[in-house]
Amino acid sequence: MPLKIIFYPAISLDGYIAKSNGDSDWVTDEDEQIFAEEVARAGCVIVGRRTFEQYKGKIYPMANATTFVCTSHKKVTQDYPADQVVRVSGDVEDIVKQIESRGFTSAILSGGGDTNSWFAIAGLIDEMIVSVYPKMLGAGIGLFGRWDHERGHFPIEVQLNLTLLNTRQLGDGVVQHRYKVIN
Ligand SMILES: NC(=O)c1ccc[n+]([C@@H]2O[C@H](COP(=O)([O-])OP(=O)(O)OC[C@H]3O[C@@H](n4cnc5c(N)ncnc54)[C@H](OP(=O)(O)O)[C@@H]3O)[C@@H](O)[C@H]2O)c1
Repeated sequence: MPLKIIFYPAISLDGYIAKSNGDSDWVTDEDEQIFAEEVARAGCVIVGRRTFEQYKGKIYPMANATTFVCTSHKKVTQDYPADQVVRVSGDVEDIVKQIESRGFTSAILSGGGDTNSWFAIAGLIDEMIVSVYPKMLGAGIGLFGRWDHERGHFPIEVQLNLTLLNTRQLGDGVVQHRYKVIN
């Protein structure tokens, strides 16, 4: 069965997943709990190397799930048990095959902006659960983007067409939408 990828970002109202310094400390405990439940249901989560390094020992590795870390560097994951943290690399199509070969049929994608954009451009995102926070940042790390030593983070053009499946209000003014991606 092909891997179903569910993209789960937490964004400011103007579409940033973190401040310029990489902080996304505004994410609520309730949202983190729902995220953990979705990851446990899927059985695995896909993250980029910078996200993994920022949250290792805090969020990752996650209990009851395998964390797939996209990175070209072997040392990033070498200190973890192979059933908890797995390094994946190459084209995103290859990464999907590496995850499928371990028996997974669904995965949660949780960025950051660089990793998100590779999966989105390849048309590999099936659903999206987005938590929209009542705040504007004006600048920061976008939902989709790349990091460049000279320019810092810059946005990448991505087009996803979505159908709304449901919307619910969480605490603290957070609104969570669930969409199906139609391409
Ligand atoms: N609010 C949210 O929902 C949320 C969720 C997650 C993350 N974040 C934030 O996002 C920020 C990090 O985002 P980011 O865009 O800077 O980085 P990122 O996407 O976390 O990591 C980028 C790295 O992932 C690796 N990578 C991506 N695609 C790959 C591929 N196909 N093959 C091999 N390696 C691949 C590369 O690592 P190597 O250089 O090692 O090859 C690349 O440098 C953090 O500030 C974090 O807090 C926010």
